Amino acid sequence: MKTAITLVLAAFAAGMTGCSREQGTASVASTAAVAPVLNGPDARDVHSYADPAVARVTHVDLDLTAHFDTHTMQGTATLDVLSSAPDPQLTLDTRGLKIEAVRDAEGHDLAFQLAPADPLLGAALRISLKTARRVQVQYTTSPDAAALQWLSPAQTAGKQQPYLFSQGEAILTRSWVPTQDSPGIRQTWSATIRAPEALTVVMSGERVAEPKQVAGGQREWRYRMEHPVASYLIAIAIGDLSFQSLGARTGVYTEPSRLAAAASELVDMEKMVAAAESLYGSYRWGRYDVLVLPPSFPFGGMENPRLTFATPTMIAGDRSLVSLVAHELAHSWSGNLVTNATWADFWLNEGFTDYFENRIMERVYGAETAAMLADLRWDDLQDTIKDLGAAKVGDTRLHLDLAGRDPDDGMTDIAYVKGATFLRTIEATIGREPWDAYLRDYFDRHAFQPQTSAGFLKDLREHVIKGDAALEQKLGLDAWVYDPGLPANAVHVKSAALEQIDRRAAAFAREGISADVAKDWNTSQRVRYLNRLPRKLSTRQLAQLATAMNLDTQRNSEVRFAWLQLAVANRYAPALPNLEDFLTSMGRRKFVLPLFKDLMAQGEWGKPLAMRIYAAARPGYHSVTVGSVDKVVPLAAEGQ
Ligand code: BES
Ligand code: ZN
Repeated sequence: MKTAITLVLAAFAAGMTGCSREQGTASVASTAAVAPVLNGPDARDVHSYADPAVARVTHVDLDLTAHFDTHTMQGTATLDVLSSAPDPQLTLDTRGLKIEAVRDAEGHDLAFQLAPADPLLGAALRISLKTARRVQVQYTTSPDAAALQWLSPAQTAGKQQPYLFSQGEAILTRSWVPTQDSPGIRQTWSATIRAPEALTVVMSGERVAEPKQVAGGQREWRYRMEHPVASYLIAIAIGDLSFQSLGARTGVYTEPSRLAAAASELVDMEKMVAAAESLYGSYRWGRYDVLVLPPSFPFGGMENPRLTFATPTMIAGDRSLVSLVAHELAHSWSGNLVTNATWADFWLNEGFTDYFENRIMERVYGAETAAMLADLRWDDLQDTIKDLGAAKVGDTRLHLDLAGRDPDDGMTDIAYVKGATFLRTIEATIGREPWDAYLRDYFDRHAFQPQTSAGFLKDLREHVIKGDAALEQKLGLDAWVYDPGLPANAVHVKSAALEQIDRRAAAFAREGISADVAKDWNTSQRVRYLNRLPRKLSTRQLAQLATAMNLDTQRNSEVRFAWLQLAVANRYAPALPNLEDFLTSMGRRKFVLPLFKDLMAQGEWGKPLAMRIYAAARPGYHSVTVGSVDKVVPLAAEGQ
């Protein structure tokens, strides 16, 4: 599927015809211009009903009220549409939305049809536009909209106010915004949001007015995003939020009682932005703020433009987990500027970002810190390849076939680490300087545009390979992108500090604990040590380890997670209160899902524990985490 990619509708919008990427004329001079949609077969999005070649959304204007009593958002989405057809049909993605009316700009009803719903993709909303190019959809979200988590005051740090946050990626935005929910269709947006006056509304855009007091004890907030973005990047959070500035264009939002800790953890953010810019060009989004969410946030971080959403489990107290911020910041280029056109090329978002994240870490914290992080990721990649095994070897490809599947299936460390390793291998082969120059230029030339694997390879061949058959052969580009497994030329960054740890882990197996274990070790070293210990340990060994490394009271989430995995693998009962506390106090899927899988793998010992803990924890988890754990842990039958 390495076919020519032509640009549709961008050319139309610019008054050009027959404009194709081959001719190199479709550059988007101003981001205010309509962003191109790719129409090659490799850019067809199987996770959206939209037909952008017929009619596409260019701007979304939301006017919504957040109802914390009914857990619904209610109001209108007014869409600007581009189409060259005489009476086009506009197809939108929706999921669980109650569509109350569809009107044109004059308020006249437009004929529409809501198709039967698919459990994963939702329901296509088809609107007959006639001559209308602006349509207003009046709707209400479902109380269990997949993108929205409504938290009770008890689920927040302050315990006084409720909280709402959204999570759009991959295909959840359609459960709160009726639009074309495909990463290849970029839209500018604006929003007017009403919420209870005690709460603060933040969004992944620029605040364009001070909040205004309105009727019913509410305040009204206005935001906008002037750059065209993929719909999964439209995000909102509402809660008792306070803000602290961290630098000229950086800051942190979180609940008041958590602000000091969050601000102290994130002191280096301004430096990170500067490092990122020095690598790959100016930061194009204005401000860069982080919102630290309540513990049910299902991901480590989410790269919502101007406002990264982050898990509180990254607040370790010693800044040892801030590579997560480097990662989300890196997405401001890889992902948010240049975006995977479909979820089949998710690695273009995450592989580039994993690579870029590590380069930021190297700039800010030095080569050894970066090498440790990269080496740990290499371990993750090896584990993933092993876990996918022969049965799912197809999922070890970078470019995936996700037809009929949940895009979540592609969200493995293949996209992240095999992707990053691919780029690191190119770097090592052609040299850092030319590679960095290429990347900087690449982000620039493709800014605010979608990209496919085939498009990236074509660009690379044009600008880097330039017909050098020996180089092409040496890199093996097609094998990297289209074949399963890890190519033989993969570059493995090894950390000397971690090799030292590996020797200590081997010694523990032979000689038992030594008094100075983990003394002066950083988080990466502790994690590596726990992961390199033999999977089978005696109760006595585990107890020694727990004492020597203070594992019972460990608050660092990564170390705690590594320890609990080891404990569960050995049915180590003394760690159970710790395990139960961890699983019921946060809902980050990366920690929750493997621990439940590990418990379930422990048969009669683990399964009842998994079921009991999950029954208690499930009501507090986000739908993303629930969706994954439900496939692993049977729900306790009623009355049992
Ligand atoms: N964009 C992802 C999160 C995501 C991926 C959300 C797929 C929905 C679907 C984000 O940038 C990410 O990769 N987060 C990681 C943290 C990172 C440090 C590897 C996470 O959440 O663990
Ligand atoms: Zn990411």
